[in-house]
Amino acid sequence: MPSRRRFLAAGAAVAAPAFLPGLGRGATPAERVRIGFIGTGNQGMGLLKRVLAADLGDVVAVCDVNRGSTGYKEPDHFYGREPAAALVNKEAGGKGRPAGCEAYADFRRLLDRKDVDAVVVVTPDHWHAPMTLLAADAGKDIYCEKPLSFAAAEGRQMIEAVRRGKRILQTGSQERSNPVSRFVCEAVKDGRIGTLRRVVTKVGFNNKVGPGPGWQAMPVPDSLDYRAWLGPAPEQPYHQDRCLYRFRFNYDYSGGQITNFGAHSNDMAHWGMGLDTGGPLEVECLAATFLPAGSLFNTATETRFQCRYPGGVELVCESGPETVQTRFEGSDGWLQTGYKGATASDPALLAGLPERAAAGRDPHTLHLANFVECVRSRQDPVAPVEVGHASALLCHAANALIRLFATSGPTKAAWDAKAEQFVGHDAANRLLVPVQRDPWA
Ligand SMILES: NC(=O)c1ccc[n+]([C@@H]2O[C@H](COP(=O)([O-])OP(=O)(O)OC[C@H]3O[C@@H](n4cnc5c(N)ncnc54)[C@H](O)[C@@H]3O)[C@@H](O)[C@H]2O)c1
Repeated sequence: MPSRRRFLAAGAAVAAPAFLPGLGRGATPAERVRIGFIGTGNQGMGLLKRVLAADLGDVVAVCDVNRGSTGYKEPDHFYGREPAAALVNKEAGGKGRPAGCEAYADFRRLLDRKDVDAVVVVTPDHWHAPMTLLAADAGKDIYCEKPLSFAAAEGRQMIEAVRRGKRILQTGSQERSNPVSRFVCEAVKDGRIGTLRRVVTKVGFNNKVGPGPGWQAMPVPDSLDYRAWLGPAPEQPYHQDRCLYRFRFNYDYSGGQITNFGAHSNDMAHWGMGLDTGGPLEVECLAATFLPAGSLFNTATETRFQCRYPGGVELVCESGPETVQTRFEGSDGWLQTGYKGATASDPALLAGLPERAAAGRDPHTLHLANFVECVRSRQDPVAPVEVGHASALLCHAANALIRLFATSGPTKAAWDAKAEQFVGHDAANRLLVPVQRDPWA
């Protein structure tokens, strides 16, 4: 059981003044939105730089359990709370704004600040739900990275907390703000390819290699509060390939590429199907391969699953060289979108397609800007909590059957979209519920 006192002590970072009043429930920020970043690693630093470059608000606080180190996705990148705060303060100084961004090791101290209107949660997946629930209860609006949840059963709690607190939540599914993906998904929804019959989605292969069976624990680096990094996850010996960036290849913290890339490609599938809430009638895992037992990376390396949706639409999701791609096949042709742009069976189907450059900014920036705009207007953003939940839920349901593949082989199971559970498949249903340690359970 983790020591709560030790966790709190680790978080006793620089105390910050809380002079400015925070937003009341449902209130609109009068001036610039004051933002706190939780998780300043690979994606967190990317989003932070975009907020600063587009001057979307004032970043008044950052938090990371890593003080600052290399060892992220790109080995030489130096990320963590200290480089993040230094970056914000340098940029603010350059723009003539007050340079008072504070760095915290415990996100709860950041949430205590009354002058933080909104938080951007960019931690590993196993932290998304606990942080979102506490942020919503603290009256903060939330930009939560995809996949919205780490386990299926968390999503409904996240919806309840956000709606109960009248909070704004944007899921980090930035393709929803990509004008090209919007064009394709809306065109499919509007019947441009006739009756939709089949959607084929892609998820990338693993892009990192972890240690095989017999791997040895490593000493925890000075900069990292490993216990706080683990948080609700099971106690495990430290290895550098467990944590920064590589957490996505371990089922204790993530769902592998099915939830990593699948949260994008399957989200677009749902969008084109016109299905912002709800899910399939049936899920079937057709193939899954894993590294040898005892490897540190234990998520599936290659997968193929399919689902049947109301109206007879079929979704097939498979590993491939394209990291994110969604192809819609209809009675009158096909349309495809993804990281590389849009293509179609007939150029006429692309009439009116906006160019990526036309937007002037990348989808991440547009997505963050949409969030900030909604913090002000109190309108739902383009990827609200229910949308993030439905996409993550599909990935979690598929992953449950994928994880059982090694012992059970190909499995088809009926899915009850209302109950958010398999019908009569206890082993798969157990995998939808997260295993969490106190005090986070
Ligand atoms: N939208 C996208 O296209 C996109 C792209 C990449 C990553 N992501 C998502 O962003 C999230 C983070 O991924 P990443 O690649 O940046 O991982 P990362 O490991 O590079 O960064 C995560 C950071 O969170 C920190 N952290 C862990 N526990 C914490 C805690 N309790 N409090 C504060 N900080 C904590 C880590 O120390 C690390 O610095 C994931 O959910 C991932 O799916 C989204």
